[in-house]
Amino acid sequence: MSVADLARPEIRALAPYASARALADSAGILLNANENPWPPEGDSGLGLNRYPEPQPAALKRQLAAHYGVADEHLLLTRGSDEGIDLLERAFVRPGQDRVITCPPCFGMYALSARVQGAELVEVPLRESPDGFELNLQALSQAGPAKLLFLCSPNNPTGDGLAAETVLDLARRRSGEGLVVIDEAYIEFSDRPSLAERVAQQPNLVVLRTLSKAFGLAGCRLGALIAHAEVIDLLRRIIPPYPLPTPAVAAAERALAPETVAARREQIDLLMDDKRRVVAALEAHASIRKVWPGEANFVLARAADGPALVRDAAAAGIRLRDQSAQPGLSDCVRITLGTPEENTAFIEFLQDWKT
Ligand SMILES: Cc1ncc(COP(=O)(O)O)c(C=O)c1O
Repeated sequence: MSVADLARPEIRALAPYASARALADSAGILLNANENPWPPEGDSGLGLNRYPEPQPAALKRQLAAHYGVADEHLLLTRGSDEGIDLLERAFVRPGQDRVITCPPCFGMYALSARVQGAELVEVPLRESPDGFELNLQALSQAGPAKLLFLCSPNNPTGDGLAAETVLDLARRRSGEGLVVIDEAYIEFSDRPSLAERVAQQPNLVVLRTLSKAFGLAGCRLGALIAHAEVIDLLRRIIPPYPLPTPAVAAAERALAPETVAARREQIDLLMDDKRRVVAALEAHASIRKVWPGEANFVLARAADGPALVRDAAAAGIRLRDQSAQPGLSDCVRITLGTPEENTAFIEFLQDWKT
């Protein structure tokens, strides 16, 4: 059985839409795409009157090299959000298939599953003295699912997953579904990515994004890394021109070696400053627990979480209330900012009384 057999039969039968740019490159006189021949005012060489490359080859090469995978294993998407959505649409039959999530986790896994009409099975994380961990026994009893979403480091708890745990789950579930490991925050952690492992494990999918460590959330660029057969299936359903030309140009600049090195220094600075934020939270009488985690945020439980979010907002500081997530009553997620922004938060906290 091949991994493509797990996809919806109508997707397997689909021929991809052949856009003008996919059928012929953009050299010569272009009379094949109903574009306007004149660029807009202030175009500055981008050629915005032309449709972009469906999968920009140069960016794809840069990113594949950066992640250590072959080009055929990578699909460029409009952020990881689109990668999640494509997986749901290609693999999950509405009203028939199941999707497993392990809350507290990123909300888009469940939302996309519901939109697709999947049966959503939640296997909550377990709180342990060190943080939150997968309930492996419950997962082994959860039954088959077309998609199992895992996240390392996890949003919002910050815990990382051991590579062997993820690979073992993928091995156990091969033949029945994909195991998706979302590595949106992996650059902040010391853990290695599982991207290179997709070559040996056909039902493993790795999600990476340029929104976090690369500081390009506004560009909406992500990479879905998987077996070539999975990539081929997803290319059948991705819109013909998902990636805007200015976003691609910005990403190419961000991946230049000297820019990558400068970003690395910023990440080190950010993670270094985390200590101050964690220490300020731990010192506060109304903070009950702090989970520093492995990402660019900290999770904390307050005596009254919604009050912390409300009072911080009144002081002009936006925090994210996590109280509605299972097991996270009164919890608040604090994203690390610049050292000045972190200082502003710490000063607010020192004055904060419930
Ligand atoms: C775990 C996780 N995955 C994916 C995303 C979305 O990433 P993108 O901006 O690439 O769509 C987020 C955004 O917060 C996230 O926390």
